[in-house]
Amino acid sequence: MGKHILILEGDGIGPEIVREARKVLDVINAKFDLGMTFENELMGGCAIDVHGVPLADSTLERARLADAILLGAVGGPKWDKLDRSIRPEKGLLKIRSQLGLYANLRPALLYPQLVDASSLKPEVVSGLDILIVRELAGGIYFGEPRGIRVLENGEREGYNTYKYSESEIIRIGRTAFEMARKRNRKVCSVDKANVLEATMLWREVMDTLHKEYPDVELSHMYVDNAAMQLVRAPKQFDVLVTGNMFGDILSDAAAMLTGSIGMLPSASLDKDGRGMYEPCHGSAPDIAGLGIANPLATILSVSMMLRYSLGYPAVADAIEVAVGKVLDQGFRTADIYTEGTKKVSTSEMGDAVVAALQ
Ligand code: NAD
Ligand code: IPM
Ligand code: MN
Repeated sequence: MGKHILILEGDGIGPEIVREARKVLDVINAKFDLGMTFENELMGGCAIDVHGVPLADSTLERARLADAILLGAVGGPKWDKLDRSIRPEKGLLKIRSQLGLYANLRPALLYPQLVDASSLKPEVVSGLDILIVRELAGGIYFGEPRGIRVLENGEREGYNTYKYSESEIIRIGRTAFEMARKRNRKVCSVDKANVLEATMLWREVMDTLHKEYPDVELSHMYVDNAAMQLVRAPKQFDVLVTGNMFGDILSDAAAMLTGSIGMLPSASLDKDGRGMYEPCHGSAPDIAGLGIANPLATILSVSMMLRYSLGYPAVADAIEVAVGKVLDQGFRTADIYTEGTKKVSTSEMGDAVVAALQ
């Protein structure tokens, strides 16, 4: 039986970029005779408009039954003023936590054709290939207690809780060490162990776990230094492992090394490798509807889906080769455009990948 994919287009540029990823899925489905089936559901602002909540229970049920999930992006100014309990982003956080998607892989790979699109000098970024392993189901994003309360003096106070248990640290640490074994066998664990107890424990647990992976080198770095090192000398890194919030921030910074946030795909995996796949960027309200968004991060997320959840690594390779080919041919969306290349729309970029696959 073919695999079943749940597609959540989401908001803003979500539908535009997912349309191109779907073209790619349809082509490989036919070409490699995969027999995959697809279904669409709503999540985010579009789901609030229809169901009154960002993630309906029925959608979550469909997600549990699917072999993999493809997501565009959620959120936008239209829903920013709603009560905080029904923000679009709540749907995304709920699906991540309910499905146990704790391992977020964000590969920052610079295609050599895009070296001039990066905001850093060619010698600093050329050949860049790092993997950010972000803990996705815990940390300050989910810690309780949290909220906004009224103090005795009448003013309000917002508060969140940053915490990690040993088992949460161990499972994401294992992901990082295992991934490093398939790469250059170097893990850098990023924390703020000079200030935060939660990350003091994180560092200690990583050191203990490291004893099981003596073939992998482990180093530690404070997050402020890591942010600086990422733009100073990013090629010193192989695998970076860090908590939910630090990983969110560092991966957006790393994205720019690859030319654009529109190039960074991601996989969010559970303990068995089932997962949700989405670009690292958001719904880009500033360019939504203009047909200029870069669909490559979403198309590369499809490639990660085929590799990590569906068991079709050769098809995943074919998509990555096709992306390389369209970049060789000079096709560029506005975000990665440089002089001498051909500026194309979102759909023209998707069509070019499809043509390269055929
Ligand atoms: P964003 O990533 O949406 O946009 C940041 C900048 O990058 C914008 O200038 C945008 O035009 C550009 N950009 C993003 N993706 C692009 C692409 N594919 N091609 C070309 N340019 C692209 O971040 P933001 O503006 O901070 O957030 C907008 C909304 O998206 C918010 O509601 C936020 O909560 C949400 N968001 C959702 C996700 C997600 O669904 N996973 C991720 C991040 C942000
Ligand atoms: C991401 C996004 C999300 C996050 C938001 C939209 C909840 O920024 O996927 O990187 O912070 O995890
Ligand atoms: Mn983010």
